[in-house]
Amino acid sequence: MVGELRQHARSARAVAHANIALVKYWGKRPGAGEDLNLPAVGSLSMTLDQLRSETEIGPADADEDRFELDGELVTGAVAARSFRHLDRIWRHFGGEGATRPALRVLSRNFVPTAAGLASSASGFAALTLAGTAALTTALDGASPRDRFAPLSALARRGSGSAARSLWGGFVRLDRGERDDGSDCRARPLFARDHWDLELLVVHTARGKKSIGSTEGMTRSRETSPYYAAWVRESKADLDAAEQALGRRDLTALGATVEHSCFKMHACMLATRPPILYWNGTTLEVIRALWDARADGLEGYATSDAGPHVKVLCRSEIAAALSERLARVTGVLGIDRVGPGPDAHVEVLP
Ligand code: PMV
Repeated sequence: MVGELRQHARSARAVAHANIALVKYWGKRPGAGEDLNLPAVGSLSMTLDQLRSETEIGPADADEDRFELDGELVTGAVAARSFRHLDRIWRHFGGEGATRPALRVLSRNFVPTAAGLASSASGFAALTLAGTAALTTALDGASPRDRFAPLSALARRGSGSAARSLWGGFVRLDRGERDDGSDCRARPLFARDHWDLELLVVHTARGKKSIGSTEGMTRSRETSPYYAAWVRESKADLDAAEQALGRRDLTALGATVEHSCFKMHACMLATRPPILYWNGTTLEVIRALWDARADGLEGYATSDAGPHVKVLCRSEIAAALSERLARVTGVLGIDRVGPGPDAHVEVLP
């Protein structure tokens, strides 16, 4: 990739938005080095407005890495994972053999952290962009966005879904074929103004998810009898969703979105021991959504490694549908979000 390491780290800031997969990723390629984090299937997502991570990276005051998240010093596994990612960026641009300069990372998440709402996607996307701008010249000059593509493969190594958070609108991450993962990078399909859609994020619980996605994916690959079918069918779902998006066909898109989601959860449920992210309210919301659809309010459900339900619908019915789902017992709140913008990065003076 074009760009060189800088002699000294400088300060840079990046904003990346969260995304929700409309066609899901679950499972990693066997045999691939853990550090490459190669998905067994591609995925297709909508980037979300409002929900985002803002990350500033600069030289550390003392000669020691420091990570602050939402104003608090973070140590332990979370900090270590972030600095490992900055080491990766450093090595990727040729820093092998030399010590990476100590960095100070200040990050803010405008996403409910680790509740199945993909704060790792926006977090690692912002970390990748701010880290690259702080340590290298790769994003210097006009239109850094034109240079995001190879960085998507780098973001993927921090978190699979992060590869999709570099662009706004609707984004596809292909599985790729190469063992080094260089062709496993996302690409923007349609800009955010392509279609007036909304996602209703229906909150059904507070707190952290029960099992991390990496551990869950490994377990599913090793023990779920449905895993092979899940992987085999993914490409057809991706193509169907991309085509339905292209012609703005919500009925066709929605059918694929729900099918991909339920297949993924079926694969999780058939894992040993089972992986169950849903609670009772999750199911009540899905039932209420289907009832609403029968009454002409057309929305489609998806859900990730958590109990919340995300509902895709046209914005003109979002208020009515949201009102209806808010009446389900156990629903804690509903956020309405539209398609979000591209990630953004700047070098600070
Ligand atoms: O990349 P991770 O570890 O955030 O895994 C994401 C997995 C799902 O959210 C369940 C699906 C997806 O494609 O985002």
